[in-house]
Amino acid sequence: MNVLLVGSGGREHALAWKIAQSPKLTRLVCAPGNPGIAKVAELRPVAVTDVEGLVALARDIAADLVVVGPEAALDAGLADALQAAGIACFGPTRLAARIESSKAFAKAFAVRHGLPTARFEVFDNPTEAKAALARFSGPYVVKADGLAAGKGVAIGHHLAQAEDAIDGMLHGRFGAAGARVVIEEFMAGEEASLFALCDGTRAMLFGGAQDHKRLGDGDVGPNTGGMGAYTPAPLLTPEIVASARERLIEPAVRGLKAEGAEFRGVLYAGLMLTAEGPKLVEFNARFGDPECQVLMMRLKSDVLPYLYAAATGDLSRLPEPEWRDESVIAVVLAARGYPESPVAGTVIRGADARFDPHVQVFHAGTALNAAGELVAAGGRVLNLCARGATLQEARDRAYGAIAAIDWPGGFYRRDIGWRSLSASNRA
Ligand code: AMP
Ligand code: GLY
Repeated sequence: MNVLLVGSGGREHALAWKIAQSPKLTRLVCAPGNPGIAKVAELRPVAVTDVEGLVALARDIAADLVVVGPEAALDAGLADALQAAGIACFGPTRLAARIESSKAFAKAFAVRHGLPTARFEVFDNPTEAKAALARFSGPYVVKADGLAAGKGVAIGHHLAQAEDAIDGMLHGRFGAAGARVVIEEFMAGEEASLFALCDGTRAMLFGGAQDHKRLGDGDVGPNTGGMGAYTPAPLLTPEIVASARERLIEPAVRGLKAEGAEFRGVLYAGLMLTAEGPKLVEFNARFGDPECQVLMMRLKSDVLPYLYAAATGDLSRLPEPEWRDESVIAVVLAARGYPESPVAGTVIRGADARFDPHVQVFHAGTALNAAGELVAAGGRVLNLCARGATLQEARDRAYGAIAAIDWPGGFYRRDIGWRSLSASNRA
């Protein structure tokens, strides 16, 4: 099978690493990729939103399957254009991807189909939005409607913080993505991410993880795209997974189909585990980053048949995927200044060190400079991933491996996995 993988982050490096192990693979091309992905795939310099360029590339390499990593490509209509060209695409159409690309759409969709989620209202006028805060109680949750790389959510304990967030968003802080804001009721609980492959009609559970979205140790500070993750997430008990599947995932797949927007790809349900059961925080139309990294390392089955079946509509012919009986953790190394203004160009040494076989280093925002040195070229730059018999063992290996990396321009959280580890220490 010839495969075109679209994207350039840690998620795509993990997908490329796993796809490259498939006995069904003939050729793997990645656009635009990064220096880590270059070790397992051929790179082509086509941007993820250059839909025409990507379709031409897919034709050029006679791609049997295009695997789309990032939401920006889906929102640009890549799946639609590939569908029109008769090329199988893992990733939903623009219409189906609105489940992620518009929070206002996603919330209204949830209400139409009876999915449990927080009460909400949508505004494009700052005066009305601020007046509406009186109908909510703190902490206040204010979200930009559109795609904002995980940074478009403000949670403030004080009214003034919520008002500032509304003003910032409606006055262009996130560009067009903030032209509307969603105000929601705060849900208390622990969060977890659940993944399901979808072929338009059916959903097949594809693992779960817990992500650390906040910048700082102890889960404090601003929201980021994700500073670390681990799988399995002990919080996702079989009962919770069954409930989320019945009450959220299956009705969403049926609802999208009924609304003429069949979903093919991976549906990522961000869950809040509340006292009344799992509730929807958000849907994403793609794998999480860094959740994908830990899922790919834990997946025992060949990933390619699953991606192809979701893209072409016959998931029911495949058995449930098999997972290693191990825990996997990912620690994100980010450039100083992330998420506001990451410093680019600092030199990273040691990313190619010979690591323990349980460790993988996935590249996210990296590049090579004119001298051929590896440098930071994004906010989240490297992912140190490790597997182990227990989460503690995986974590010790991942943090042990960080010691080999010499990068004064970077930083990382030192407590990835703490929620689960402190719960098991209490038990
Ligand atoms: P989202 O981009 O919608 O996933 O939101 C980012 C993060 O904000 C989530 O992972 C939660 O930590 C938090 N969050 C979003 N909505 C709510 C809510 N209604 N109640 C509590 N926390 C929320
Ligand atoms: N790690 C969160 C996300 O990918 O949205």
